[in-house]
Amino acid sequence: MSDQVRIIEMGPRDGLQNEKTPVSVEARIAFVEALVAAGLHTVEVGAFVSPKAIPQMASSDAVLRGVAHVKDAEFHVLVPNEKGYDAARAAGAKVVSVFAAASEGFSRANINCTVAESIERFKPVLARARDDGVKVRGYISCVLGCPFDGEIKPKAVADLASTLWDLGCYEISLGDTIGVGTPDRAKDMLRAVSANIPPAKLAMHFHDTYGQALANLYAGLEEGVRVIDAAAGGLGGCPYAPGATGNVATEDVVYMLEGMGIRTGVDMDKLLAATNEMSVVLGKPPVSRVASALNAK
Ligand code: HMG
Ligand code: MG
Repeated sequence: MSDQVRIIEMGPRDGLQNEKTPVSVEARIAFVEALVAAGLHTVEVGAFVSPKAIPQMASSDAVLRGVAHVKDAEFHVLVPNEKGYDAARAAGAKVVSVFAAASEGFSRANINCTVAESIERFKPVLARARDDGVKVRGYISCVLGCPFDGEIKPKAVADLASTLWDLGCYEISLGDTIGVGTPDRAKDMLRAVSANIPPAKLAMHFHDTYGQALANLYAGLEEGVRVIDAAAGGLGGCPYAPGATGNVATEDVVYMLEGMGIRTGVDMDKLLAATNEMSVVLGKPPVSRVASALNAK
């Protein structure tokens, strides 16, 4: 299994979108700069969503503009509809992510529409992005369980993944939004999705609510998936996913991968410094086990 894995850093978006403490635009920009300096060259920096729904992501345009000078980096932002796409493009976005859900309950709670309606909203975004030369990533939430609808069948995830893929998404990120999955279920889901989409075009976006994220990632690596979404310090969560906690911590992922001989290109000391700086801003210690262990040294 010794080859490369690409980590997509979620800290400045998923990581901060559910935090009670307001984080200034300057601190968000500094966080992104520190993460890129640590070797995380792909960073999701914000979301062009309703500021009434997610006030923490207001001013994502200022963040995106504020990091435009950073070299050797690709910045992603969420867009739920054409209004978000317009604003993202005006701020210079070159990669945007649309986000759907494998369950009707979460789709309604998160983006106030059915799954089918969300696809209709994404179609013009994907068509315009194609014309504009903008890459579009596609998320699917609740791939291993939904806080409203319960169990999710792998086929539901596979069908929706194929729809997003056929619309032109270059990569499909599979979200265990509430972190309830276990390794065999993660494998079943990934096998169903990769019947139609090459595993190299899939990403694993696992939240760590039940402490299963690393085990599930290992299971996914065995299935050939090589892209992992993670958040520095284990920050994160979705306000519309009751009970869910943070993304798998980038430190924990890097420690596991490097221990397996898989290169990540991440400098752990610099990543820890970025995490610790944000932890001071937020006024609480990181939940990452590796960050805690290294900080205790
Ligand atoms: P809606 O109420 O159905 O939309 O919300 P609407 O078109 O009826 O508009 C309502 C208001 O929102 C209007 O403003 C619009 O202008 C405004 P008002 O007239 O009331 O002042 N609006 C917007 N404002 C800014 N940017 C926009 C936008 N669109 C409409 N793009 C909507 C639909 C999707 C907008 C709303 O439900 C929303 O913003 N939801 C946010 C959802 C969100 O960001 N969730 C967290 C990210 S997803 C996640 O965390 C999961 C993930 O990490 C993967 C995983 O873990 O599974 C990706
Ligand atoms: Mg998430």
